[in-house]
Amino acid sequence: MCGITGIVTEKSDNIGELLVKCSRKLTYRGYDSVGVAAVRNNKVDLRKDVGTIDEVNRLLGLSTMKGDRGIAQLRWATYGAPTKVNAQPHFGCQEVFYGAHNGNLHNYFEYKAELIEAGHVVRSENDGELCVHAVDKYYEETGDMFEAVRLSAQDLKGAYAYAVGRADEPEIYAVKMGSSLVAGVAADATIVSSDLPSVLPLTNNVVYLADGEMLVLTHNDVKVYRIADGKQLERSPQISNVDARAAEKGGYPHFMLKEINEQPKIAQDVIGLLDRPKSEEWLNLLENASRHYIVACGSSYNASIVGAYFFNRLAGLPMLHAIGGQFQSMYGDTLNDECLSILVSQSGETKDVLNVLNMIKKKDLGKSLGILNVIGSTLMFQADSYIPMACGYEVSVPATKTYFSQSIIFAYLAARLGERNGHIDPSEAKSFIKRLRTDLPSLTQTTIDRTGILARTLARTLVDVKDLYCLGYGFTDGVAREGALKIKEICYCHCEGMYSSEFKHGPLSIVTDNYPVIFVTTTEDSWMVINHINEVKARHGRTIIIGEYEESLQPYVVNKQDYLVVPKSDVLINPILDVIPLQLLSYYLSVDLGINPDLPRNLSKTLTVD
Ligand code: M6R
Repeated sequence: MCGITGIVTEKSDNIGELLVKCSRKLTYRGYDSVGVAAVRNNKVDLRKDVGTIDEVNRLLGLSTMKGDRGIAQLRWATYGAPTKVNAQPHFGCQEVFYGAHNGNLHNYFEYKAELIEAGHVVRSENDGELCVHAVDKYYEETGDMFEAVRLSAQDLKGAYAYAVGRADEPEIYAVKMGSSLVAGVAADATIVSSDLPSVLPLTNNVVYLADGEMLVLTHNDVKVYRIADGKQLERSPQISNVDARAAEKGGYPHFMLKEINEQPKIAQDVIGLLDRPKSEEWLNLLENASRHYIVACGSSYNASIVGAYFFNRLAGLPMLHAIGGQFQSMYGDTLNDECLSILVSQSGETKDVLNVLNMIKKKDLGKSLGILNVIGSTLMFQADSYIPMACGYEVSVPATKTYFSQSIIFAYLAARLGERNGHIDPSEAKSFIKRLRTDLPSLTQTTIDRTGILARTLARTLVDVKDLYCLGYGFTDGVAREGALKIKEICYCHCEGMYSSEFKHGPLSIVTDNYPVIFVTTTEDSWMVINHINEVKARHGRTIIIGEYEESLQPYVVNKQDYLVVPKSDVLINPILDVIPLQLLSYYLSVDLGINPDLPRNLSKTLTVD
């Protein structure tokens, strides 16, 4: 949620252009409002308004702003409505201090009251403004910008990061306390940002930060300090090998479609990564734990449900799973130092998941294994070990390729573990992994090619639908939930994902003439799913089927596009593929509805708030 970018240049006067170019790469983090504060001749020009970066740029000419340093912010609203006054950056009491934040201040109301009581003029209802006032307050006391920033962080409770500057000082300062922050050092400029994609247009010379640290940016250097005592820390830049082109659409109309089409390659890359000796470490963690948990949110949680089925089937391992916010109250008291918690998060920054990790670490409740996509994320640094998803940047707000990679990672780990613990015949495990390695990439491509055309036609028939169900059974449980999440998220249409045998226990009453229900099934479960299809058909509902071709399902297909047939594969590979037609269906439906699937309203790619 929210993205900040601060840049200090040596002598260029085109700070607006640089900030817009770099911040545009953070669009997925927030598009409620956008602002830029540019400093020239010790004066701050602050322009901001409601809308996406391109809209506000057109309106206010952000990219024409002059100066040699500045801060930009893209907002996903939490404290305060998405209005111009709540847009960031903010000024302090006078137009001298400027700054912006990402995250949430938990002591917002108390601290705001305290500042107002002390005479500060707070103009907005946005917590980011308080970061600037806190610096303003301590500058008044110390007359020193470094100390003012350092002390300001001690007043602000919550999980956040902010960048701040003073009109008459050439530096930009930044603080990391629970939200992501990364810096870069280019030949003639330095940059600090919420996320790597906005650093890469300037440089791949990257400085990673930990919580409790602050930065001072000058035009040619980034210095890192510990906030607690102000001690300078050694932190040399590292070369990032993340490909900046990942943040380009590459000829596709939307990132979502590009990312769906990257999945054949991801199937190959992720297995290549798992096939390395490092995987022994992950398997040892799994094998040595007495109890296993998975914690995740949204799509990552749906993939974890699929994972639990793989661990059961292939390794005989019970995998307790819960969404991040639910975990502590559901399983917190059952954890001990012999447990393993697997924390799954594309961004590696989801607060609901990090809250669980913090609790585990604080109380010493066993080991943690992260499964993450963003290298340099908090989860990567804080988990005992981590598995990268090997997806490259996922820019579109709806997760597609990362969900796909997660389900492959679970299938692979479960098979390797089953091979080790003897739950399945070692030759069976080896042959499954071989099929993942050799067959999955091409099966993925065939699934995209075959189901894409039908999904496009099917989408056109669903544009007027406001309500539907997506049902799975056994291995396709998580797949159906994921399909429903995609449709809800980017089509603004209510689609509930649930277990198909549960449908008759209440929801069936919603079915009337032509009411759409999507069934996702594997060949091993279709004998059962047919019962559920019949229950809907008997009430004149419209059934749409996703799965391999089966004669027994054919009588239920009225229109060709109502049976999205995935290629014939293994009964365990099939659930990995089944999500693809649902991704494509939601994508085409979203586009037909005139929605930009990459930036669905009200959402953000990285949710660093409670
Ligand atoms: O970065 P994470 O995997 O932790 O994100 C979790 C959810 O916020 C995320 O999957 C969300 O549900 C997606 N927008 C779904 O497409």
